[in-house]
Formats: sequence, structure tokens, C-alpha cells
Amino acid sequence: MATITRRSFMEMAVALGATAAWGRGTAARSKLAWHERRDIYPEGVASGDPESDSVLLWTRRPPKDGKALEKLMVEVAEDETFTRVVATAETPISEASDWTCRVLVGGLKPDRIYWYRFTDADGYGSRVGRTITAPTDDDTRPVRFAFISCQNANQGAQNAYRRMIFEDERAGERDRLGFVLHLGDFIYEIVWYPEDRPQGMYDRRLRDIVRYEHGEKIQDFHIPTTVGDYRAIYRNYLHDPDLQDARARWPFVCMWDNHEYSWLGWQGLQRFGGVDRPAQTRKVAANQAFFEYQPARLLKPSGPSLTQFDPPKVVDAPIVHFDEHGLGQETNNLAAIYSLRGYRALRWGRNVELIITDQRSYRSEEPTYHAEAQAFLSDDFPGFLPQEVLEILDAGSAFNGGHPPASIRYGSAEIANFRRDRPPTNILGAEQKEWFLERLRNSKATWKIWGDTVATLDMRADPQNMPPGLTAAAWPGTGYAGFSASFGAGDHSTAYVERGEIYDFVRDNGITGFATVAGDRHSFWAGLAAKALPPNPFEPVGIAFVTGSISAPGIVEALEHGLPKEHPLRPLFVGQGPADTQPQPTLNLLLRHGVKSCLEYAKSGDINKARAVSNPDLSPHISFVDMGGHGYAVVHVTSDTFETEFVCIPRPLERSERADGGQLLYRTRHRAKLWRKGERPQLDLQIVEGDPRFSV
Ligand SMILES: [Fe+2]
Repeated sequence: MATITRRSFMEMAVALGATAAWGRGTAARSKLAWHERRDIYPEGVASGDPESDSVLLWTRRPPKDGKALEKLMVEVAEDETFTRVVATAETPISEASDWTCRVLVGGLKPDRIYWYRFTDADGYGSRVGRTITAPTDDDTRPVRFAFISCQNANQGAQNAYRRMIFEDERAGERDRLGFVLHLGDFIYEIVWYPEDRPQGMYDRRLRDIVRYEHGEKIQDFHIPTTVGDYRAIYRNYLHDPDLQDARARWPFVCMWDNHEYSWLGWQGLQRFGGVDRPAQTRKVAANQAFFEYQPARLLKPSGPSLTQFDPPKVVDAPIVHFDEHGLGQETNNLAAIYSLRGYRALRWGRNVELIITDQRSYRSEEPTYHAEAQAFLSDDFPGFLPQEVLEILDAGSAFNGGHPPASIRYGSAEIANFRRDRPPTNILGAEQKEWFLERLRNSKATWKIWGDTVATLDMRADPQNMPPGLTAAAWPGTGYAGFSASFGAGDHSTAYVERGEIYDFVRDNGITGFATVAGDRHSFWAGLAAKALPPNPFEPVGIAFVTGSISAPGIVEALEHGLPKEHPLRPLFVGQGPADTQPQPTLNLLLRHGVKSCLEYAKSGDINKARAVSNPDLSPHISFVDMGGHGYAVVHVTSDTFETEFVCIPRPLERSERADGGQLLYRTRHRAKLWRKGERPQLDLQIVEGDPRFSV
């Protein structure tokens, strides 16, 4: 992309529907009278999806004193004081896009910091934003970026951003972040109004962040129903000062996960009370709001305008017929899910290709959400599902070479296999999967980084090793347990067929440097990407990481409040040693070392004794797991190493007033050397500060 011409840039801008600005070869002092008025740009500024010569810029300027504007000026400069302005453009602004605008600026130099600002005809200006272009494709310099997910402004504070900014401002020039990858749950569409839940949520105080004008109340929470409602939730999130500062400091690369649309949503469906219902109009509304509020290089079929989304007209019609990939063929469903294409790839020099996929719009049904799947769950074993059951349900009609069993044994019961006539779980969808695999195969980058919003690392326990008599009934499975979606599974870790297909493809094509970064699980994980675990052959093909949530509560916090004190398996989840006065995140120990380690900890309170009785076959793929951690992750890659740092902060119940966002709980670093074809990837852990003792 180094030699892109002005003409081809303009064509690209038109394809993206952007207002385009072309960088001049020479810089000149700003000629605009700019007076900063943050109050009339209440959502701040942002930039997104940088390439080596261009980046998207964003702001929102609603009418002031009833006076609506039709345009804004944008300036891009090489310095913060705008004495070296390299691009200036006019951008239209209108109610049709909720007064937001997107400007594609081209003709920029690679790997450069630029400053930008918006100004109206009266000289009232936005705050100044900072952005960074990517290095050119042949540039071998190291790349550093953060990956994050799951910020909940209704239930927590965004201290993680404060910490990220604090550290970046103090880092040496080459140690600063080049961009921030946001892997979804940028908003939580599901909102509790404080009066609906006076007791709060777990440890959390509920904030009064939005009142949906149209919204629907379900049980004790509220969800958006119109584009106006979705816009309202984005606006209110962007009023968070720490999030706004982060968007003004770095270019963001954003992908939606579930909550940008709907909690248990898939394709154009929503799911409440165990029932799927058509919600194509809401899927389109969610896409429109994402398009308007996230500056990103997304394609939409409604026309090339970046000025307006132009939503397709859809109705909420029942989705009855699904094809062999589990894709609902109903016309409105297809129009809704194709109204915005989120999957895309971006390059940062020789070392990084970031391949981002969409796990919600095309995915087939999640088998464990089915009413019939409830028969495999028991309150005696919270969240546990026999692994053999998960494998049968996932593979559906393809199980056992196309000969799935008619029924599945669970303890002494034989339960009908409701998935025997259905296709295997397909999270990516056929079309996207083909694109993804081709992208992987053809990538020229040292590291092929899969930005998967959902986690890939197996989450399993070994209830078969429980001493008899611990629970009233014996473990109804034949061996290991996986977990239900309510514990955070139902992601790529239990889509065994699809994950196996991807990992086999990586192996068969001799693809090295395959690394996955994910979110969604509200927990930190580091490990090796393998399609199977012992007693099956364990053959890693890559490395994989999951970042803790910025602020949304995790499962440990939920269990502290929700798991009965007298539950016999409490030591496996939020156990306490004899000297502990508070519940400890022993779920980490369960996933990493097994039930015997948890029971030893409950007896002696000695973490070393607990680790000494680890089950080595349980999780050879995991090097670190913290189901209670919050914060962010930083990736640093060079031409031969991949390093991931977890920066873990305390539960972000309230906003920290400290400049650094508050103390750290721990900082860890995992490092992998680039492996050669046929070699097994390996991860080394370094604990830099703090003591994540249940996590290792
Ligand atoms: Fe989340």
C-alpha cells in the first residue's frame, strides 16, 4: 500500500463511503480559529482501523441551542499544536447519522503519530485526538498493541483504561501502544435501572446510565428496541471520561461480540426465557449504531456512503428454515445479518496480520442453550457438562463419522440426542470461514493473529477424580467435564468440530506463528491451541490468549454471591483454606490442576501442597487462568517472539481517583519463540509483579 495514488485512495474512500481527506506533501500552520469546547462534542473524538497511509477519524456534534450544523472541518497535523497541518477536509454531519461523522484520511506517512481535531463554522472545536498509522508491509520493526473486551458502565468503572493511559504516557517512544483492539462488549445493551434492583448486582452499585425511550423491560432489566435506543447506549458509554480519553489517545480496532446486539442473540434472533424470537429489526438497528459510533473499515451493501448507514427495511419474521450450515434462510434474517460486514484483516508491518472474525452474525444455534440440553445439567455439579455429551451435541449429525447415537447416557438415564439430525455447530458460518482460512494460508506476516471475540481454550474439570461421598449423587459423566455457556463456554472451546477443522488447516498448511487473542470470558487465559486434550493426542498448533474484562463482572464474583454456602462443591469454585477469611478463586485451581488440588487447598490452605496433587492430564494446554481477573492485555511481537502481558486490576467497583487508575493485583508475561513448521509452540511465564497464586 506504499504507493497508493490519490486517485485510488479516492476510489477506496468511495467504496467505504468516507468523506475523504488527502494528506499534502507539505505541512502548513492551521488557518482555522479553533477554540476547544468539549461540551459541544460530548462523546469526544476517535480514530480507527489505521493502515500504513490512512486512518478513519470520528466525532459527534449534536445541535447546539437548537441550531443544527451541516458540516464540520477536520484537520490532521504532525504536531499537537497544529503548526504542521497535513490534511484538511469538510465533512457533512446530519441527523440521519445521529450527528456522527467518519472521515477517511489518506496520503499519510507510515508508522507516524498524527493529531486531529474538528471545528465548526464558529470556531468551536473538539478536543484534540491522537492517532497512529501502521508500518508498511515490509517493515520489520516490533509491534505493540493492547487487546481488551467487556466494559460495563452500568455496573463498574473503567479504571483499566486509566492504567493503560498512565503506563503508555510514561513508556519510551518505542514501547508505546500502536493501537487498541477491542474484542467486543464495548456496550452492554442489557441495562438494569437502579430502582429495578436496589440490592445492586453482586458487588456492584448500578449506575443510572441510560433510559431507553422505546426499550423493552424483561424480568428486571431493559433492552433497546430501536436504533435510537442503541444510539443512546453508545452515547452514554462514551460519556465515561476514561473510555473517552482512551479513544482520543489511540486508534481503536473494534469488533462486536454479543452485547453490541443482544445478550444471547445469534443471527437475527434474540433469546430470552429460553426461547428464540425473531429480531431482525433490532439486528439492523444494532449494526447501524455500531457503524455510526465505531470508525471502522466495514462493508455494507446499502451503498457506499460513510456518511449514512441507509438501513435495509426488514421485519421481524419467524426464521424456520436453516441450511446445512445452520444459517437461517429467511429473507429478513439474511438482509439483517448482511447489513454490515464486520470481519476484516489489517496489517502492521512484516510481523503482524490481524484477522478479525464475527462470531455472532452467522453462527448456528448453540446446542447447550437448547431446552433439551438442560437434562445434562445438575445443581449437584454447577456448570459441569460431561465432555462426551458436549462432543456429541456439538457434532450433531456428523458425530461418529455420520452415525450419531439416538440417545446419550447421563448417569443411569438415557436421554434422546436432540442434535442427531442437525449440522455441527458452526460459529463462523461457511462464507466467513472460507475467507478466514484463505486469509490465514495466504498471510505473509510472521504472526497471524486471529482476533476471535470468543475464547478457544478448553475449560474443563475432572469430577471423575472426586472422592466418593463428596456429593449425594455420583458424577453422571464418564470422565472429564466441560462447562455450560453460563460459565462462559459455548464458544470456540466447545465448537470441537469447527475448531478442529481450523487447527487441522493450520497444521496441514504448515502455518506457523498462529496466535489467537480473545475476550468474552471475563477472565485471563494463556495457553496452547490444540484441538484435543488427553487421553486424546495433544498436538498444539499455536498459542492462544484471553483477556479479562475491563469492568464487567466475572463468574467468580457471581459464584461468591450465587453458590450456596453449604454446597458440597464450594471448595472447587470459591473455596477457603482454614486461615482464609474470604472466598478464594479456587475455580482457577480447578481448571488448571483439578479437584484434588482444590480439596487439598480447602484442607490445608497450602497452595504448594495443592499444586503438588495436580492432575497433569487435565489441562496441559493451560499455562495461566484467572476467572476473577479484570484489566487488559498487551501484545508485543518481534520477528521471532510473541509476548503477552496481563495487567490485572482489582474489581473495578468505583472509579479510581488516582492518576494511575489504582493499584495492580499482578502483571504477568507469557513469551513464545517463533516455532518452525512441525515444531511445537511453547509458552514461558514470567510473573513480573504481584502473586496470581491460584492461576498458575
Ligand atoms: Fe462480556
